[in-house]
Order: sequence, then structure tokens, then C-alpha cells
Amino acid sequence: MSSGGDRPSQRTLVIIPTYNERDNLPLIVGRLHAARPDVDVLIVDDGSPDGTGELADELALADPDRVHVMHRASKAGLGAAYLAGFGWGLGRGYTVLVEMDADGSHAPEELYRLLEAVDAGADLSIGSRYIDGGTVRNWPRRRKVLSQTANVYSRVMLGVQINDITAGYRAYRREVLEKIELNTVDSKGYCFQIEMSWRTVSAGFTVVEVPITFTERELGKSKMSGSNISEAIVKVAEWGFRGRI
Ligand code: GDD
Ligand code: MN
Repeated sequence: MSSGGDRPSQRTLVIIPTYNERDNLPLIVGRLHAARPDVDVLIVDDGSPDGTGELADELALADPDRVHVMHRASKAGLGAAYLAGFGWGLGRGYTVLVEMDADGSHAPEELYRLLEAVDAGADLSIGSRYIDGGTVRNWPRRRKVLSQTANVYSRVMLGVQINDITAGYRAYRREVLEKIELNTVDSKGYCFQIEMSWRTVSAGFTVVEVPITFTERELGKSKMSGSNISEAIVKVAEWGFRGRI
């Protein structure tokens, strides 16, 4: 075997969940393959009424080796979509599984940073807005405050040293997802990212943050709602107390 032949990122699946992302999807898949022709893509669409699912099928038909689609019946949340995507990817032998939003907030041009961290030994790499070199572009003040509050709250309650624990741009080594009992993860929204981080750390895996520039979407609308916030407050407190006993 040639040297470097065992980099885990050589078999990477990028999972892109979509709900009404018709305008964004072709752009993000195009940018991704321009930046990283070597990765495969799985689009997980929850029956978008705007036709995103049909568009995803067209992209897959045009590039059947690299682009795949999973159609789910109805909108069941970001977390459920990722869990289904992880199952699909693990079953097909991918060694790194990446989470990426469809709306352009997670720049495919920065994916190499996440993959390099995993190849260098991280079990989970997180594209972080809140470490040196990381930033957020075009977010209203209200969202910044909410995000930073969630991070401080989670750090204090859980006692973990992750600066951007709600971040949605991530690369997991398959070993992490095999170990953390995905069938018992039930968080929706932001809380899903916190829960996955917490489980990864609790199972003894190494988490590394790499800086990214998160740019708020220009097309379409955010799907995150306020109801996710109370879920996070309660659950994070529960995990924190259980972890301390
Ligand atoms: N399949 C599916 N089903 N996809 C969904 C659903 C769903 O129920 N809800 C959202 N998505 C998709 C969107 O289409 C988009 O591709 C991605 O998930 C992120 O959704 P947004 O609505 O753009 O989320 P956001 O920008 O508010 O939140 C982002 O930043 C948060 C941290 O600030 C995400 O990356 C979050 O994971 C992250 O916690
Ligand atoms: Mn978004």
C-alpha cells in the first residue's frame, strides 16, 4: 500500500439534510465537488414541498457514483435526518461522516480543515465559530447572543471544553458513531448537536475544533424554531447533573 493509504478521509460521506432548499442545493453540491472531488454526498430530504427532493434526484442521476439521495416522508427535524444519514453511510463502509448545511453557511472550501484534523487523529472535528480565526457573518445580534449563551450554558452545565458545541459543521470518524448508541439519541434542533458532542466526549473520544467562517444564508429561510431552545435548556441540565453523580 502507498504511504498515506490509510487516511480515514479517503472514504468520506458528506450528509446534507434538506427541507425546502431548492435554490441552495445545486450551488452547494457544485461548490462541494469543486473543492473536494473525492467525497461522496448523501442528500437527506424530508419530502420538501418546494421540489428539493426531485432536484436532488436529478443531481444524483447526473453523477450517480458520487451523489445519493434519501427521501423521507415528512419533516422530522435535523437530528432525525442526520441519524438516518449516518445509518446509511455506516452501512456502506464510509470511514468519515460529515454534517453540512445546504444553505451555504458551511463553506465546502473549508472542509479540508475538518478532514485534516480527523486524519491527524481527531475522532470528531468541529468547524468552530468561537475559536481564533473563526467568525460569523451576517447574523443578527439576537442570534449571536442566543448562540453564545447556549455555548456558555452548555460548557458550565456539562463541564466540557468545547467553544462551539452547537456547531453543525462536523466530521465524525465512523468509530464514534458506532459506539454512541445512535438509536437512543432523540434531540431535535440545536440540542442534537449538543447531545452528540456530549456523548462523544463522554465515550472518551477526542474532539478538535478548527476555525470556520459561518455565513448566514442568503436564499430561503431558517427552519430552526424557538421550541428547540427550551428542549436544550432542560436536557443539558439533566445530562450535566447525571454526569456529576
Ligand atoms: N431533512 C431535513 N429535515 N432537513 C432539515 C430539517 C428537517 O426537519 N430542518 C432543517 N433542515 C436542514 C435545512 O434545510 C438546512 O440544510 C440545514 O438543515 C440547517 O437548517 P437551517 O434552518 O439553515 O439551520 P440554522 O442555520 O438555523 O442552524 C445552523 O446553525 C446552528 C448553530 O448556530 C445548523 O447548522 C444547526 O445545526 C446549528 O446548531
Ligand atoms: Mn442555516
